[in-house]
Amino acid sequence: MKGIILAGGLGTRLRPLTKIINKSILPVYDKPLIYYPIFTLRDAGITNILIVSGREHAGQFLDLLGSGRHLGVNLSYDIQEEPKGIAHGLAVAEDFTDNDKVALILGDNIYEDSLAKAVHDFQKQEKGAKIIIKQVPDPERFGVMKFNGDKIIACFEKPKNPPSNWIQTGFYLYDNRVFDMIRKLKPSKRGEYEILDLNNLYLKEGTLTYQKIKGRWIDAGTFDSLLEANNFIAKKTKNEQFLKKTRRKYSSEKNRKRG
Ligand code: TTP
Repeated sequence: MKGIILAGGLGTRLRPLTKIINKSILPVYDKPLIYYPIFTLRDAGITNILIVSGREHAGQFLDLLGSGRHLGVNLSYDIQEEPKGIAHGLAVAEDFTDNDKVALILGDNIYEDSLAKAVHDFQKQEKGAKIIIKQVPDPERFGVMKFNGDKIIACFEKPKNPPSNWIQTGFYLYDNRVFDMIRKLKPSKRGEYEILDLNNLYLKEGTLTYQKIKGRWIDAGTFDSLLEANNFIAKKTKNEQFLKKTRRKYSSEKNRKRG
């Protein structure tokens, strides 16, 4: 399976931070934001990854990440000439995917949970798409799922009266028909090729599956959510460092007693 990270877009909600720097290069505690989607793909076993950005930022990614070898991945780069939506950005990846299945992750999304099971399950799914959904307190800001029992029967963009509090997050799995599906899309009212419209085509076909996640998920595209991401990662990193130190101390004490 091939991985695509979308890091185009204008990042207008983070201006002036994003005036000369791409959103996905902004710091999240001790690493640039884009490291986290790279790790999410890598941890799910996807190491062949295309980074799609606007022309003005492509050089920043190449300078920062290079071949990706030091992060345990193999990176390629391509350009979305105009930020005309997430489905439009994905279309850039058609040649790269070479008829393989595709895992798409947004360059500003941080997942606490591993998505390895979703990827593993999707490898076995004969056709269709799979989305990652999460319960949130403010569903009206997102793409919201409507269920009939366990089955998703509709998906609405920023509805005033959300039919549930389950929303679509920024990780999507597609079969190799996805590029034909994108060609069927028309721009939305805001002039973008919407990922929700793409997923709705699979939904209509009856081949859209989903996986629920419980852990933290942060779309770091606003000042508050970027701050939340920094605080979350700082706490997590420090906890991990503390645990490592304690384990090391414990094992050296044990060795001393034995020896
Ligand atoms: P958004 O946060 O929806 O858009 P944006 O990054 O342009 O920010 P703003 O709304 O503040 O102007 O995009 C989500 C992710 O998708 C982000 O990582 C950028 C990426 N993206 C593209 O790669 N191409 C696009 O055309 C769009 C709209 C987004």
